[in-house]
Order: sequence, then C-alpha cells, then structure tokens
Amino acid sequence: MMKMNLDTLVGNARIVAIVCNQWGDTGKGKFSDLFASQWADVVARGTGGANAGHTVVINGKKRVFHLLPTGVVYDKTVNILGNGMVIDVEKLVREMESVRKDGVRCDNIMISDIANVVMPYHVEQDRRENSQSSGGIGTTGNGIGPCYSDKIARRGIMIRDLYDTDELVRKISAAKQRYPQIRINVDKIVDLLQAAAKELKPYVRDTVTEMHGFVRNRKRILLEGAQGLLLSIELGTVPFATSSDCSVNGTASGVGISAQAIDLTLGVAKFPYMTRVGAGPFPTEFGGRQSESWCSNGTHNLEQELTLFGIPFEKSEDGIVYDRRHKKILKFLHSRDPCDLGIGIRLAGEEYGATTGRPRRTGFTDLVALKYAVGINGPNLILTKPDVFRSAGKIRLATAYGKRELFSQNTFTPDCRKLQDARPAYAEFPGFEEEISGVTEYSGLPRGLRESIEYAEAYAGARVRMISTGPEQEQIIIK
Ligand code: IMP
Repeated sequence: MMKMNLDTLVGNARIVAIVCNQWGDTGKGKFSDLFASQWADVVARGTGGANAGHTVVINGKKRVFHLLPTGVVYDKTVNILGNGMVIDVEKLVREMESVRKDGVRCDNIMISDIANVVMPYHVEQDRRENSQSSGGIGTTGNGIGPCYSDKIARRGIMIRDLYDTDELVRKISAAKQRYPQIRINVDKIVDLLQAAAKELKPYVRDTVTEMHGFVRNRKRILLEGAQGLLLSIELGTVPFATSSDCSVNGTASGVGISAQAIDLTLGVAKFPYMTRVGAGPFPTEFGGRQSESWCSNGTHNLEQELTLFGIPFEKSEDGIVYDRRHKKILKFLHSRDPCDLGIGIRLAGEEYGATTGRPRRTGFTDLVALKYAVGINGPNLILTKPDVFRSAGKIRLATAYGKRELFSQNTFTPDCRKLQDARPAYAEFPGFEEEISGVTEYSGLPRGLRESIEYAEAYAGARVRMISTGPEQEQIIIK
C-alpha cells in the first residue's frame, strides 16, 4: 500500500473527523481506511448502526462493514463503537466472526456500555412501517428509527443492561405493550441477546472515559462519520432522514467528546454528481420523479439493471463484475434524456446501496445544499468520484432553487415540501472525455472540471483538500 503524505494535510492535528456532506454514500470509507492505516491510533464511530455500509478490502477481498469501524483490520488501531451508536449485537457478533475468518483478529475494539441495543422488535417495526414499497420513507430496515425512539423516550436497552437479566426482562416486558402487533417472546429474546452479549463482554467499556484518556495522551484520533449531513435528524430532510445526528457535532457527542476538540473536519461530497437512496426530495435528480419511482420499485438492483439493459456481467466473490465503460453505458451517458443519464451514471459509478443493494438516485451536485453542509461541518472538503463523470456531457452545478417566494436568497431548506418544488438553476462548465482515474496531481484534471471545483469552493466558502480519482487508496489528489 502506498504511503500518502497525510502530514502536509493534517499538520499537527490530533483529532480528525471525516463526515459526509450529502445524503450518505460519498465514499468516506476509503478515507477512513486511509487515515486508519496510515495515521490514526484510534478510530471512533459515534452514530447510526447497521444502516451504514462501507466497503473495505481485506487481503485483496472486498468486504462490507456495517458496524465495525474501519480500523479493525489494523491490529495497532483501537476501534470504538461509541455511546451514540445503536448496535444490533447479533449482527455485530456475525460481522466479527466473518472478519476473523479473513484472518483479522478483531480484538482491538471497545464497545460503549451505554450504546443502545437494536432489538428484534425494532427491526420488525421498522420493516412494517418504513419500507418504501408500503409507502414509507424507505429505510434500510435495520430497526434504527424505532431503537432511537426508545432511546429518546428514555426506555432504550443499553449494552450494560445485557448483563443484568432482571433489568433486561423488565425492559423487554415493558416493550410488549408498546408493540402489540409484534409477537415478543421475552425469554427467547433474552437468550439470544445474552448469547451475543457473552461474546462481546471482553470488549465492553466505559468508552467515554477511554476517549478522554486518548485525548489527554494526544493520541491520533479519527472520528468516523456515518450516513450524511442531509440525512441528519437535526438538520437533514426530515422525515426523509435517518434518526441520528450525522453532522460532525453528533459524531463528536456520539463518542463523548466536544466538536470543539476536533482539529480538522473533512466533509466528503461527491462531485460533480451526487446520490440519494430511499424516498425524499432531491432537487437536482436526473429525471426527477421518474427516476425516483424507477429506483423505488424494488426491481432495479445492479444485477437486474444489467440484465435489463443487456450488459454482460460475471459474479465473483467480490460481487458483480462488469465493464463500466461498456458501449451501452456510454450510450446512456451520452443520452439527452436526463433519466437515461441518471442510469448511465449509476452504472458507471456502481451506485447501488452497500447495505440494501438498492439503486441510488443520481443528480448533479447541489451547491446550495453543499453550502448549507459547510455551514455545519466546516469548510474543508473532500470530493469523490469525478472520474465517473467522464463522457457524461456538461458539468452543471445547482446554484439556486428558483421560485423566489419559496427560497429567500436561494439558501437551502430542509423543509421537504419546499424542496419538492425547487427548480434549480445551474452554472455550466465543459465536461470531459479524458480518463482521469488515478490522476494524483490537481493540474492533471481537465480544465472544465478544475473550473467547476474552484467555482464550488468560492460558492460554498470552502476549500477542497483532497480529491478521490478512483477506488484505490493511492488514487488521490491532495490539493
Ligand atoms: P434508516 O437509517 O435505515 O432509518 O433509513 C432512513 C433513511 O436514511 C433512508 O432514506 C435510507 O435510505 C437512508 N440511509 C440510511 N443509512 C444510509 C447510508 O449509509 N447511506 C445512504 N442512505 C442511508
């Protein structure tokens, strides 16, 4: 693995946060992995649960982590599952077992004793209420919302409760009344949870005190964000959002420290296109409503789309392999129909959910929303996936939402009813045909792309610090 010169970027920083500035899936996993492998002593995650999914490569094999922080594959790194997370303990045990099969020891983790536990009835409730096919917001179906609801109502089950049978029985029995439509067999659930809890016991800690020790001892700490700012329960497009605060602030409090203690926050954004999974407004979506319903009908995952469009593929251990520059994909990219362009970008960038396999909706990068995210997560940006945009025509960045009476001064609003009516205005820049995958110098990027990046920096009051030009760790520009 090539050693990147992170020092010029990070300087003397001891606490670095990597969070997403859009609707998740911006590729922050690659950067967490870079920092975990080459810089961090501690990797700490503070929000969400198994709804997240980031792909890591272990001994040349692709693996998706949902709960474990990325640093788990590096023995020297301490990995914290923080107090703000919601943990499905059975899934965590399974994830640890599978990582161990790949030769990773997985004993370098610490699990917060006060993180909340996702219960089987949370998962069932979430699937009943929130699946997109039944008219819900299209959650990942991991019980995240119901679990956080119980937490906020002060009746959640914490990791520490798993070691107190009386407390556990009392809390699950009380839950029976709240979920009358779900069959809850208290004894069975207690048995399942305690079997998992036994496996996890060696790793359960007061992680808040541990974190304070790491900070005092000037350890190099990476805060690993989950989901994205626009999905935050505090600041995102509620109700089409997740149930945690995935801003840098929520991430910090989710591991027991102040956001003020963070020396450098890097906000990740896809550029010059972006994505969203599940329902909810997406002003710049290629093909608008038509694309949203195409992506939500449950029959357009990667394999289904490739089959439908006659694009050859093979199945391997690492998933589905196909030619991302196949002539049919290029045809979509060249199409004048925005819906087709969206499909082309999805296939060229393999934009399908790592957790659910759902097709991601695609659209141009929205600078109005990015500026809003910068106001919360700060001015330092990482841009990802510009290489995917090759051959996709002009770069167009949303700079205004139209309809003045709805959008004063064209600022972002998380109000979904207003956002649904946005009619974006765009700044245009020349597209590019050159292969830029693997470019490591900023000057090696096509002129139109550079102009659009500099325009975005000026618009959002931000500074681009890194640009990813491909999936491999060394395919990075440090700007
Ligand atoms: P939940 O987090 O499973 O409750 O899902 C709530 C919303 O957040 C849905 O629109 C999901 O598609 C979205 N979401 C949750 N986690 C992720 C993620 O890791 N990437 C992208 N979208 C996500």
